[in-house]
Amino acid sequence: MSPTPPTSPEPESEPDLRHHGDAEVRADGAGLVDLAVNVRTGTPPQWLRDHLAATLADLAAYPDGTAARAAVAARHARPADEVLLTAGAAEAFVLLARVLAPRHVAVVHPQFTEPEAALRDAGHDVRRVLLSPADGFRLTDGAVPESADLVVLGNPTNPTSVLHPAAVVAALARPGRTLVIDEAFMDTVPGETESLASARDLPGRVVVLRSLTKTWGLAGLRIGYVLGPAPLIAALAAAQPLWPVSTPALAAAEACSTPAALAEAEQAARELALWRDHLLKGLAAFPDVRVHGDPAASFVLIELPGADAVRARLREHGFAVRRGDTFPGLGPDWLRIAVRDEPTTDRLLAALGAVLAR
Ligand SMILES: Cc1ncc(COP(=O)(O)O)c(C=O)c1O
Repeated sequence: MSPTPPTSPEPESEPDLRHHGDAEVRADGAGLVDLAVNVRTGTPPQWLRDHLAATLADLAAYPDGTAARAAVAARHARPADEVLLTAGAAEAFVLLARVLAPRHVAVVHPQFTEPEAALRDAGHDVRRVLLSPADGFRLTDGAVPESADLVVLGNPTNPTSVLHPAAVVAALARPGRTLVIDEAFMDTVPGETESLASARDLPGRVVVLRSLTKTWGLAGLRIGYVLGPAPLIAALAAAQPLWPVSTPALAAAEACSTPAALAEAEQAARELALWRDHLLKGLAAFPDVRVHGDPAASFVLIELPGADAVRARLREHGFAVRRGDTFPGLGPDWLRIAVRDEPTTDRLLAALGAVLAR
């Protein structure tokens, strides 16, 4: 637990950090086309379903993560003691918040809100670094205070879809600083070009979080992992409950680390890039819609005056998109849209056209 005092309660105008895209497709959103959650459609693939189903025969035994840990370590060219398997990246945020004792926490926003929520829950005083749409939500020189000894950043970033160059992210590493990079969406980038998952020689402590949720359609299984220096990995492991990752989840981690699985993910990332271009071209036809920066992940962030009302009307047309106002640094004029195949995107664009013409 952090030695810093708990922060004061958030003022009422604060965004709801605990809102996530799945809320937009639950209950009254159940029949809508889901453009709010960025899990790849048509997943998990049949071979993975079959593989997971086969593990049911082993459920009488307690899980043994040895093989999965070794497979993930080999995938990222690291020793096994630099890998911690977790119940999704979400568990890793909580472990880090509970184990680390930073004096100055800088969370780079807009980004996924759970890291900040977990840090606050653990009593840390969080300072936000707000990147600007005017800069295409890119990191600018000096944006992260020199005094920050814990820095949390997403790459590529949810919800902006910005992919920061690996060199720019690596330049944030310092002796005495823990740099946490949430790479939950890195496998949506062909070649994972800007990943620091295998970087072991940067100054300070560099921690990379990965998730199998998005590309493999395993949100309900809960499997992700942490890559980082062995002593920190050991400290995080000591904070986990016993047997935190189930046998099917361990089987998924192992199966999704094979060369064949990586080739499949790469192919999906390439196809996604074509679909994203199609969406961006369609959005460019609407003069009021602005896309800042250069989207690189499985979603696109748009700025549109009155976006909150547009979102409500899109639901009447059968589409759920993600509200933007719960992300620090954004507001009611922002929406996040998942990249889907071209026919689905065409239907969305037609609905958007109808809504904006009203
Ligand atoms: C950027 C980002 N990181 C991490 C997560 C959590 O992923 P997991 O399902 O592995 O807990 C999400 C989930 O939406 C996310 O958007």
